[in-house]
Amino acid sequence: MAAAKTLWYCTSCGNESPKWMGRCPACGEWNTMVEAPVEKKSSAGGSKGVSKAASSERRPVRLKDIDHSREARVSLGLAEVDRLLGGGMVPGSLVLVGGEPGIGKSTLSLQIPLASGLRTLYVTGEESERQVKMRADRLSGNAADGLETTLIYSETRIEDILSHARELSPELMIVDSVQTMFTDSVESTPGSVSQIKEVAAMLLRFAKESGLPVILIGHITKDGYIAGPKILEHIVDVVLQFEGENRASYRILRSIKNRFGSTSEIAVFEMTGTGLREVANPSEMLIPMHEAGLSGAAICAMLDGSRPLLFEVQALVSSAVYGTAQRSATGFDTRRLNMLLAVLEKRAGFHLSAKDVFLNMAGGLKVSDPAADLAVIAAVLSSNFDYSIPSDCCFAGEVGLSGEIRPVGQTDRRIGEAARLGFRKIFVSSYSPASGSLPKEIKVVKVADVPALVKSLFRNA
Ligand code: TYD
Ligand code: MG
Repeated sequence: MAAAKTLWYCTSCGNESPKWMGRCPACGEWNTMVEAPVEKKSSAGGSKGVSKAASSERRPVRLKDIDHSREARVSLGLAEVDRLLGGGMVPGSLVLVGGEPGIGKSTLSLQIPLASGLRTLYVTGEESERQVKMRADRLSGNAADGLETTLIYSETRIEDILSHARELSPELMIVDSVQTMFTDSVESTPGSVSQIKEVAAMLLRFAKESGLPVILIGHITKDGYIAGPKILEHIVDVVLQFEGENRASYRILRSIKNRFGSTSEIAVFEMTGTGLREVANPSEMLIPMHEAGLSGAAICAMLDGSRPLLFEVQALVSSAVYGTAQRSATGFDTRRLNMLLAVLEKRAGFHLSAKDVFLNMAGGLKVSDPAADLAVIAAVLSSNFDYSIPSDCCFAGEVGLSGEIRPVGQTDRRIGEAARLGFRKIFVSSYSPASGSLPKEIKVVKVADVPALVKSLFRNA
């Protein structure tokens, strides 16, 4: 018999390597490789072993003959989560919900059975039954039905869990968390890379065989060291990531992968004393909470997934105290900020090199939509002049290296959302395609380049 074989796995991206490496060649992270035994062949249907004879009853089928119309989606009782998933959960799918500890994964996953009334098997490897009950009491409020239909099972051995799930055949299973579960078919300790992978693979096979929708919770730590959901992304059907600042009460659930719907959609929640509250219209919470008339704030009309979202960009420009000016951005790429500052310096003649520039996206949002550029520039200039931008004014445009303002996708929808939220003026690129019907109550100001924006916005500054 050959000696037990081991492989090295990257805890950040799941890359496999036959030997240790200081830096993962796939994702470029340092010190993330951990050693783990290769899964035993005996693990049912393990990904490694390929047997010669077809072992299952399944046969190849013609594409035309496949009927998916009966795949009705399962509603999870929370409209925003259903929307994020593309209209509810697909039976037999495995959804991974990842996030840092304390962000609210357990809260969300307990609210689902309470709100939906689905017959749910809620497996917890982290809390005792009593702890779950205490939380449920806090959450349930008026959802006493959910207390009736939810079964709590405090267990970590996956074989036991699956056998109970088979016996009970619930309508939904929730497993909190993948890091605490273990299977006998892998020798390493719970939470190790090979355990996590095998547990997830077993749950996926179970979901596919039984048609039961399964929600799996996974922790991500800030340093990314503990083997986490990253290595599961290619196994599961859907990956939802829970984000937000622990201090702030807003939480954003983002779809990063979805085999049955679109990605880059978000759902926004507010953590309250009685659980997570869905925020159906996130723009309302992301726009100003201060009195009008403060400098350094500009509203951006962003698109997140398919939904327009308005939020506040805040900038602070001040004289640098020490030799080198500081540049720091929260929720925005610092390199992009530097680029925009260079454009302001070179193309519009603002001397910002001796100034500290701080940038913040309101609500703990992480922004990658290039349409934010125009609002960033407006906020920086507003702070620099100490001249406030009218509060009924918003922006959507990308800024190019020569200082030109470029059009962004779906400008009309951004304008429509801005008008709906009561904005009276929106700055967009002059190169935006002309559109047919725009709301009358909003004035669309088209600007071609940064100097034109400055002229139109800060004429009196
Ligand atoms: P939790 O769901 O336990 O986080 P995770 O499972 O991701 O580790 O959420 C824990 C935090 O949420 C904790 O700091 C308390 C807070 N919380 C509320 O503010 N309101 C509530 O109703 C509940 C249940 C939790
Ligand atoms: Mg938890």
